[in-house]
Amino acid sequence: MTAQELVDLRHEARRLRPTLPNHTAYTEHALAAWRGRMINEHGSARVFRALSEQLDRAGMLGAAECATFAQEERRHGVLCGAVVEALGGQATFVEMPSSYPIHSDVSRFEGCLRNVLSICCMSETVAVALISAERLAMEPGALRDLLEDILKDEIGHARFGWKLVAGALPRVDDAMRARLDRYLSVAFAHLERHELEHIDEGPGLGGDSASLGLCDGRAMRSLFESTVREVIVPRLEGMGFSAARAWEYRSEALAVWKEAV
Ligand SMILES: [Fe+2]
Ligand SMILES: [Fe+2]
Repeated sequence: MTAQELVDLRHEARRLRPTLPNHTAYTEHALAAWRGRMINEHGSARVFRALSEQLDRAGMLGAAECATFAQEERRHGVLCGAVVEALGGQATFVEMPSSYPIHSDVSRFEGCLRNVLSICCMSETVAVALISAERLAMEPGALRDLLEDILKDEIGHARFGWKLVAGALPRVDDAMRARLDRYLSVAFAHLERHELEHIDEGPGLGGDSASLGLCDGRAMRSLFESTVREVIVPRLEGMGFSAARAWEYRSEALAVWKEAV
C-alpha cells in the first residue's frame, strides 16, 4: 500500500502549456477531464515502478524497461497537467494510497505474469485504442501533438507486455495455464470496472468539444468493449489462454476470487 502524497506538477506543467482551441463553452468540462487524466497518468508511474521491482525480484527481464515506463507515465501526468494549466487550472493534486497486488499465493514468475497481463496486455492496449480514437477526433494542433506524444509511449507499454508474455509461454505448464485462465477473468472484471468509472455514459457535448479532448462517452465505451473482444481476447486465445471464456464469466469470477483470498 502506498501513502497519500501531495503532487505538485505546476512548475514543469506551466512550461509545457499547449495553445488550445478557443472553445470557452467547454472549459469547465475540459478541466475536469484533463485533471482526471493527469491524476490517472501520474498514478500509472507508481504501477510501473512496482512492476519493475516485481520483475527484478523474480529475476525476469524487463525490470529496467519498466522503470523507464514509470518515468514516461510521470511525464504523461505533467503533459496532462500542462493542459490543465492552459485551461486556467492548477496542476496539483493529492495522490491517494493505492495497493499493488504481489500475488504471493503463486510463484514470483507467475505473479509477474498476472500483473503484466493485467497492466500491459489489458490496460495499456485499451489505452492505445482510446487515445487513438480521441486523436482522430481532434483537429491538427498542439493538443493533438501532445496526445500523439503520449500515444507512442502507450504503444510501447502494450507491446512490451505482449512480447514478455509470448516469451514466457514455454515456462507455463498446464496447471499454471489453468490458474492464469482463472486470473484473466478477475483481471477483465477489474479492467471493465476501472474503464467504465473513467468514461462518461453520456453522448458527449458535441460541437467542437472533441477538439479539447472531450469525447462521446457511449462511443468510447463501445470502443472499449470492441478492443477487448476483437483485439485482447483473440490475441490471448492465440497464446493458448481461454480468454473468451474468461471475459464471458468475469463477474462471477470476481465474486469467487474475493471469497478465496
Ligand atoms: Fe500513460
Ligand atoms: Fe502507459
